[in-house]
Amino acid sequence: ETVDWDPEQAGKGEYDHFMLKEIHEQPTSLAQAIEGRIDPEFGDLSLEGFPYGAFGDVDSVQLIACGTSYHAALYGTFALRKAGVHATALLANEYSVSAPPITEDTLVIAVTQSGETADTLSALRQANAGGARTVTVTNVVGSTAAREADDALFIRAGPEIGVAATKTFSSQAVMLTLLAQRISQDLRGRGSTDLASLLPELARMPAAIGSVLEHSRAEAIAERYDGSQSYFFIGRGLGYPVALEGALKFKEITYEHAEGFASGELKHGPLALVTPDTPVFAVFTGEEDEKTLKNAEEAQTRGAPVIAVCPDGHAATEVADAHLEIPETDPSLAGLLSNVQLQLVSYHAADLLDRPIDKPRNLAKSVTVE
Ligand code: G6P
Repeated sequence: ETVDWDPEQAGKGEYDHFMLKEIHEQPTSLAQAIEGRIDPEFGDLSLEGFPYGAFGDVDSVQLIACGTSYHAALYGTFALRKAGVHATALLANEYSVSAPPITEDTLVIAVTQSGETADTLSALRQANAGGARTVTVTNVVGSTAAREADDALFIRAGPEIGVAATKTFSSQAVMLTLLAQRISQDLRGRGSTDLASLLPELARMPAAIGSVLEHSRAEAIAERYDGSQSYFFIGRGLGYPVALEGALKFKEITYEHAEGFASGELKHGPLALVTPDTPVFAVFTGEEDEKTLKNAEEAQTRGAPVIAVCPDGHAATEVADAHLEIPETDPSLAGLLSNVQLQLVSYHAADLLDRPIDKPRNLAKSVTVE
């Protein structure tokens, strides 16, 4: 007697899709990313290859990436700017026509899960040719980006099979946050960072993600708003890349129209699209939340249901039509917890629509052409 054994099916374990499996792997993949790299007790960082002083000569930082990795790159710029470092996230596919000037004191960080994205490699080569110092933040040891950049920082997320990137986003965002702290320490002094408060919170992130996964009401929310015309995602500060990522994930796997906006930008145009048929997911990070809430209420006044992604007891829960809860944490990390909730919303929305979640039409895991 033979048993049909499909290796791909087997790799999913108890999950229906790799995407769901990979979403649930995040407590583990994130723990792997930070293991041995942070010392919460002493507020210390140790990034292999990047000791104190490694970035002493850098005067500005450019992060280049595509897709989900670009959203992680945007996330990474905030920590740098907070510490007074010049930092910009740039789409790798725009770099050849619009790169800001580079010198040998420019640090260019290529953020790429696969290390093989043609657009990102092309921008990396341009940066190398221009004399910049280059680093890649990648998941794949031995990838082209890892070989061609001067240095590499590995996110240790393990293989990601689902085309829609999930666990690699979380690990990229965290590793970029840590790298940003090291750069800031070197350029602005060790007092410029808030590692003493950040690292203990970071050490708690795997458990916090575990708690989101265990208690998430994302499936019910996906059911409630199934069949809507468009889905909007808004956020401010670090909530902005999370809003962009929430919308990208949603459109990739549901094939429904979704857009992410800076919450303050809603009134400058997108509000014209808002109707009772356009749910608005509002991401609250703990920074200027009152403004984001006001922006969400402007959509609600036009009839749009608002789903607040925030801790329990937050002012937004009084106003919103629905709530996706995240544990309380540092504003620099809250967005990562919100992102997990939004990953689950996209997953369940796509599942309800019976989409081929792990292999969405027209998309590839790694795009090796420009
Ligand atoms: C493709 C994938 C996206 C990914 C992007 C960048 O478009 O479908 O999920 O974000 O490439 O990939 P990278 O490997 O460079 O992070």
